[in-house]
Amino acid sequence: MDEYIHDDDSYRRVQALLLEEMERGLGKETVAEATVKMFPTYVRSLPDGSERGNFLALDLGGTNFRVLLISLKGEKVNMQNKIYPISQELMAGAGEKLFDHIAGCISNFMMDHQLVGVGRIPLGFTFSFPCRQEGLAVGRLVRWTKGFHCQGVEGEDVVRLLHEAIRRRSDIDVECVALLNDTVGCLMSCAFLDHSTEVGVILGTGTNACYMERLNRVGTWDGDHGQPDQVIINTEWGAFGDNGCIDFVFTDVDRAIDHDSLNPGKQLFEKMISGMYLGEVVRRVLIKCINAGLILSGQVTEELDTPSRFYTKYLSEIEKTIARIMTAATCSTSALWSAREPLILPLPVSIATLLNRIDKPSVTVAVDGSLYRFHPHFHNLMTQKTQELLNPGLKFHLMLSEDGSGKGAALVAAVSNRIAAAAE
Ligand code: BG6
Ligand code: GLC
Repeated sequence: MDEYIHDDDSYRRVQALLLEEMERGLGKETVAEATVKMFPTYVRSLPDGSERGNFLALDLGGTNFRVLLISLKGEKVNMQNKIYPISQELMAGAGEKLFDHIAGCISNFMMDHQLVGVGRIPLGFTFSFPCRQEGLAVGRLVRWTKGFHCQGVEGEDVVRLLHEAIRRRSDIDVECVALLNDTVGCLMSCAFLDHSTEVGVILGTGTNACYMERLNRVGTWDGDHGQPDQVIINTEWGAFGDNGCIDFVFTDVDRAIDHDSLNPGKQLFEKMISGMYLGEVVRRVLIKCINAGLILSGQVTEELDTPSRFYTKYLSEIEKTIARIMTAATCSTSALWSAREPLILPLPVSIATLLNRIDKPSVTVAVDGSLYRFHPHFHNLMTQKTQELLNPGLKFHLMLSEDGSGKGAALVAAVSNRIAAAAE
């Protein structure tokens, strides 16, 4: 059985390697061989509270696909949304079918909200997959991650595919004015309330982070160099390790999960920690413990023996039950933290790497995603471990982002409107 708990030196080594990969991703000459792609997003300004207007938003790539209507009036934000199911068939079928379905959902939503025939409505598209952006509303999908693998989309501009599907229906008048990753929406929605927000992290179905970077450190930037001299970078850190550089922390369980996945050899860091895989990590470790005679008298049940049957949400549910019992017995649960550390540690390691790179005395980190949101201890564990790995003198706090893909998408669209209007 592999070593499941690593010492601090291993994690410091992982931090150094992640920093190296990030720098490679930012270099014009080195980006081709980088696994952490560090995509410039073309989002360069944060909201200042003066954003106004009505926007539609799409949220594709997390647990739910949603269409949203957001009304921004300074500090006041009104939001309505509807979840539309996406079948396994659509997730694995022809890209054109997926985009036709999305356009159909927009149309249905607009009918419900009497938005048809009122003129063109701007839309922010939160598309939570790695895209190489060529502008605020132009982005080519590099590759599908998580459970999607539709044909005919990789390498294409997803905004163009969306516009073509909208045109094929001809019953709605919508223009996608911004394409964004969920990490960017997450950062923007917190930055609206807290101006020291510089990082957005998702710990949900997948994991990823973005942060505000100075332009003179982005060798791959090919936009203009005017003010503000900064741009949000979508790190796509889920692919960290795809070149084998952190094989020394992968266990036999990590390797087996990767082998049985839809995308072997890809998104290796994501597979260690995110919601799509964590339940399966625990299921496989439990089976090992049972087979080693350590628990449950060596009996593996049929349910537990079924791949993917131990859902990640069980972890939160078990934790909540333990916490209730411990509280009733007036015991502290923190004594059990060390048992959870190996599961969660890759995330503090990567957040600390980013914060050390940003090197500002105090930064707010916006966080979203079901795993972070619903697990009773992740917030405290992440805070404690990240602080331990930070360079001396640096501080941060984690802030739960409220509806990044809705509010954040509308804010990206609105900020770009505000800047365009100011430039006229
Ligand atoms: C949601 C955001 O809260 O979290 C989405 O609105 C994001 O944009 C999602 O993709 C990530 O979490 P999960 O758990 O749904 O993948
Ligand atoms: C995957 C995607 C990334 C997204 C993350 C969280 O890692 O590649 O774009 O941000 O999941 O949803």
